[in-house]
Amino acid sequence: MDYPNDTIQVLMERRSLRAYKKEPIATEHKQIISEATRRAATAGNMMLYSVLDIQDQVLKDRLAILCDDQPMIAKAPMVWLFLADYQKWEDYFVSSGAVKKGEKEGIPHRELGKGDALLSVCDALIAAQSAVTAADSLHIGSCYIGDILENYEEVQKLLSLPDHVLPITMLCFGYPVGEWKTGISKILRHSHEDIFHVDTYQRKNGSQLEKMFEEHNNSYKKSGRLSEETPDAAHFYYFKKHTSDFMAEMNRSATEMLKNWK
Ligand SMILES: Cc1cc2nc3c(=O)[nH]c(=O)nc-3n(C[C@H](O)[C@H](O)[C@H](O)COP(=O)(O)O)c2cc1C
Repeated sequence: MDYPNDTIQVLMERRSLRAYKKEPIATEHKQIISEATRRAATAGNMMLYSVLDIQDQVLKDRLAILCDDQPMIAKAPMVWLFLADYQKWEDYFVSSGAVKKGEKEGIPHRELGKGDALLSVCDALIAAQSAVTAADSLHIGSCYIGDILENYEEVQKLLSLPDHVLPITMLCFGYPVGEWKTGISKILRHSHEDIFHVDTYQRKNGSQLEKMFEEHNNSYKKSGRLSEETPDAAHFYYFKKHTSDFMAEMNRSATEMLKNWK
């Protein structure tokens, strides 16, 4: 397939990679990924995120278990945890004397709120995606680990996270075991019309949703993912994911995470 440039090719051919060579990521590659990550846009250039480069095998092994038992985390040569981090600003506001000065001038110290949390989450995720794209361009595969949102209390303790540092997403990186895969992945996406709405949100009714998922359902049928109990994507995701124990744990854990953001 012809692409207008190499960047578009990297974006179009991106896919998750879950099996890695044992080989560590070359220092120069790690540096390039770090530099590209740090050039990501951040809200007001406040860089409301930090990254934990998890190198200790004991930590990797524990995180693999805490993230719904995913052994690839323990095996990945590079594991980066993207943190939403307002703590560094909160601490700087205090240590610089800005808070004291404000109080003298009648501006009370404001507690961090859910808006601060969401903005920090945006920064962390945007930076993570830059890391993915940079890695892909170097033929280093990656996979997001969303399950890092589970078991907050233990993750917080394990990694010494202050209250205003949230584990948002984790990325496993590694060189592929075989050849670097090219071409567009067969994993389906919704069409342009089903993702993009013009000006105002167009909520779909039952038959429009059926149509939107038709291609997905056919593909799931072909791949043997569906059964009598779960005859379509709705049933499959409702019973296997939406009502699962791990999603219940994720919601409990996320509520705990946001407890300190008023
Ligand atoms: C927020 C987020 C969380 C994810 N969590 C996991 C995970 O815990 N384990 C995993 O194997 N893949 C995870 N993935 C990868 C998705 O399963 C994958 O992106 C999706 O199936 C589409 O496949 P593709 O990335 O190869 O196009 C996650 C992706 C995202 C964006």
